[in-house]
Amino acid sequence: MSKSKSKGGGTPSDAPAIETSGLVKVFGENRAVDGIDLTVSPGTVYGVLGPNGAGKTTAVKMLATLLRPDGGEARVFGHDVLREADTVRSLVSLTGQYASVDEDLTGVENLVLLARLLGHGKARGRERARQLLDAFGLAEAADRQVKNYSGGMRRRIDIAASILNTPDLLFLDEPTTGLDPRSRNQVWDIVRAVVAQGTTVLLTTQYLEEADQLAGRIAVIDHGRVIAEGTPGELKSSVGAGSVHVRLRDPGQRAEAGEVLARELGARVQWEADPVALTARVTGDDEGPGAATRASRALGELAAHGITVDDFSLGQPSLDEVFLALTDTRRPHRDGTSAEFKGAAA
Ligand SMILES: Nc1ncnc2c1ncn2[C@@H]1O[C@H](COP(=O)(O)OP(=O)(O)OP(=O)(O)O)[C@@H](O)[C@H]1O
Ligand SMILES: [Mg+2]
Repeated sequence: MSKSKSKGGGTPSDAPAIETSGLVKVFGENRAVDGIDLTVSPGTVYGVLGPNGAGKTTAVKMLATLLRPDGGEARVFGHDVLREADTVRSLVSLTGQYASVDEDLTGVENLVLLARLLGHGKARGRERARQLLDAFGLAEAADRQVKNYSGGMRRRIDIAASILNTPDLLFLDEPTTGLDPRSRNQVWDIVRAVVAQGTTVLLTTQYLEEADQLAGRIAVIDHGRVIAEGTPGELKSSVGAGSVHVRLRDPGQRAEAGEVLARELGARVQWEADPVALTARVTGDDEGPGAATRASRALGELAAHGITVDDFSLGQPSLDEVFLALTDTRRPHRDGTSAEFKGAAA
């Protein structure tokens, strides 16, 4: 069955890094993963994007042989996760699971210990530990107990531990959730460095921006199913070029402003909780001048209607927006109108 044999830690050839078909995991009544088909090419970063409870971690655990699938198939570099679990385990690493660090040990003690467990000699283990601590900006904290690390440092040492032996496939399950922008950037650099060494990365995230920065392809999952798949560009253009956020001076003008924006942008306009705020998605194929030009035209039209705008921005679609748009496509409004004016009328 296995057509591509790993060369013991090296990069296996031909087979996809991950290939699943109809993968299912059921917890009681809950189909946490409900028939997922994925193909991940070797040497790439593949993003799995989805909200809380979408089934990301469950899918990753099945691929990493930590959970038994209830249906479908999954292969890692051609090896079946059930029938060839040992081989799969030798090829993958999962941050925070296989490489769990000991809170009471220092950074360097943890890495040396894990390196020894992986069969490195004492000198080689220390050398690899130091290398990684340097690379991850943890040299100064090397002799501090991990329980005294900040969240960002903790995340970095977890990743360092998971790549002591360069894995063929690395699962990073929400590696930057809760990190500040600086720590997030450091983790992104680490991921890029890992991929440059030939490792394939499956990255789960709730942030479109993160997937955009790192991933060559993305699957958006919701309720255990893939609802969209493609390159970041394809995904974004399927949703719209960006979002216009407008804050008005006078909340009494919001309904009229909504109508003007909807007409000018040909887009859905949503009311935010703030009574003077509106958001509209700008459709189009990219972020270029097209979207900006149309947004500024719409602004001009607001002014022409005597509507005072205090604040305005044009930004990339957020995951929420991508996600809402994708689910909207699947469930169009029954009466064909846009949601905002149903909201406005209510
Ligand atoms: N061991 C378990 N037993 C029962 N239900 C589970 C178990 N693990 C996960 N679930 C359920 O399966 C669904 C998917 O959970 P999962 O952890 O895969 O989501 P996720 O996409 O990783 O979410 P998050 O972004 O919050 O990490 C959820 O409804 C969750 O409650
Ligand atoms: Mg999860």
